[in-house]
This record gives sequence, structure tokens and C-alpha cells, in this order.
Amino acid sequence: MSTKRIAPSILAADFANLQRDIELVNQSEADWFHIDIMDGVFVPNISFGMPVLKAISQHATKTIDVHLMIVDPDRYIQTFADLGADILTVHYEACTHLHRTLQAIKAAGMKAGVALNPHTNVSLLEDVIQDIDLVCLMSVNPGFGGQSFIENTYAKVKKLKALITEKGAATEIEIDGGVNDKNAKALVDAGADVLVAGSFVFRSENPTKTIQNLKTIIS
Ligand code: DX5
Ligand code: ZN
Repeated sequence: MSTKRIAPSILAADFANLQRDIELVNQSEADWFHIDIMDGVFVPNISFGMPVLKAISQHATKTIDVHLMIVDPDRYIQTFADLGADILTVHYEACTHLHRTLQAIKAAGMKAGVALNPHTNVSLLEDVIQDIDLVCLMSVNPGFGGQSFIENTYAKVKKLKALITEKGAATEIEIDGGVNDKNAKALVDAGADVLVAGSFVFRSENPTKTIQNLKTIIS
């Protein structure tokens, strides 16, 4: 059985105490850092950019999973590789030549991820699934933390898992948005490998314990 992972989303961290929150994740049972980059065009919000990611990667000791919510991500592939991204995820809806983009991400030495908005059908990945290391299913509309989980995600996870199995691909499934201790178990049971959790972790009284609790629930 593959390891199930928790990826705290730094978008929900305290930016005035960023180093403290990064150290907290380093010391916790979390597996990855999930980093949300928004451009105010692909999504109606702007998060943070390269200088902040540079600061994060100077302190982070775990895998850096970068989720690009930006148009024309091809322009910045090498930049994100240089900034320390281990996994670079682009949005299906933002890529005209997705296959080419995925090859460019891998050529830059990173794992290649594709994120799907809630309305985007997983069957659209049928002809490219073998080239994808990670599919990120958005379980909220991208752009903001703290939104409620969209229930249709369970059906999408099952359908995607079946596609991966049918094609003999090694692709992992990540869920992003509204993850908490109520839906975590059902998501991994449906086939998810990585759960992103932002506000549920950082707005809790004891984020370290919350991460530990999520790990226990999914293992
Ligand atoms: C939303 C981001 C998410 C967000 C998740 O656009 O992609 O990663 O930080 O936050 P929560 O867990 O609060 O929904
Ligand atoms: Zn994200």
C-alpha cells in the first residue's frame, strides 16, 4: 500500500510568522509543503510570488509542492525549478499545450502535476495520464482558502483512480480545498494519496496535533 500524505497549505499560515510556521511543518508529521501561487488573472486573488517562495524553500526541509493558479505557466517553469520546487502543478484550464508543458516541467527536473477545477471532467486526462506524476483535484473553486468542500469530489476521485489503474499509470491523486477530519478518511478510501489542508491545520488551536490527527485518520 502506498503512503498517504498530508500537505499543509502555507496560504493559511501566519505570514508575519512565516519561519515559525515553516518550522512547525518541518517538525510535524506532515509530508509536503503545499504552496499556492495566484496571479489575479486565472483566479480572482493574488497570493505571493517568487521572493516569498525563495524564503520558504530556504527553511523548508520537506518536499515543496507548488500549485500554480496562473495563466501561461510555461513562462515560469525554470524559475520555479530554480526556487526549489520539487513538484510543479499547472492547471488543465490554463494550458493550451498541456503535453508540452508537462515535458518541460520534467526536463527542468521536477515532478509534473495537473490540477482540475471542480467543473473539469477527469476523462479529459485520458490521453495524457501516463505523463502526469500528480493530479490535483480541486475540491473548492481555486483562489481562496477556507471554503467548503464540494461533495462531487468523491465521484471524481473514484473515476480518476479507475482511469489511472486502467492505463497502468503511476499517477498520484491529490485533493485540494476544504479538507478536514470529517472527509479525510472517505477521500483516501476513494483513492486519494495526498490531502492538502490549509485552514483546518493553521486555524486549529494546535496545528502540530491537527496534522498528527489527520495522519492517523488516513493511515
Ligand atoms: C485554493 C488553494 C488551496 C487552499 C486550501 O485555491 O489551492 O490550496 O490553500 O485551503 P483550505 O484547506 O483552507 O481549503
Ligand atoms: Zn492549492
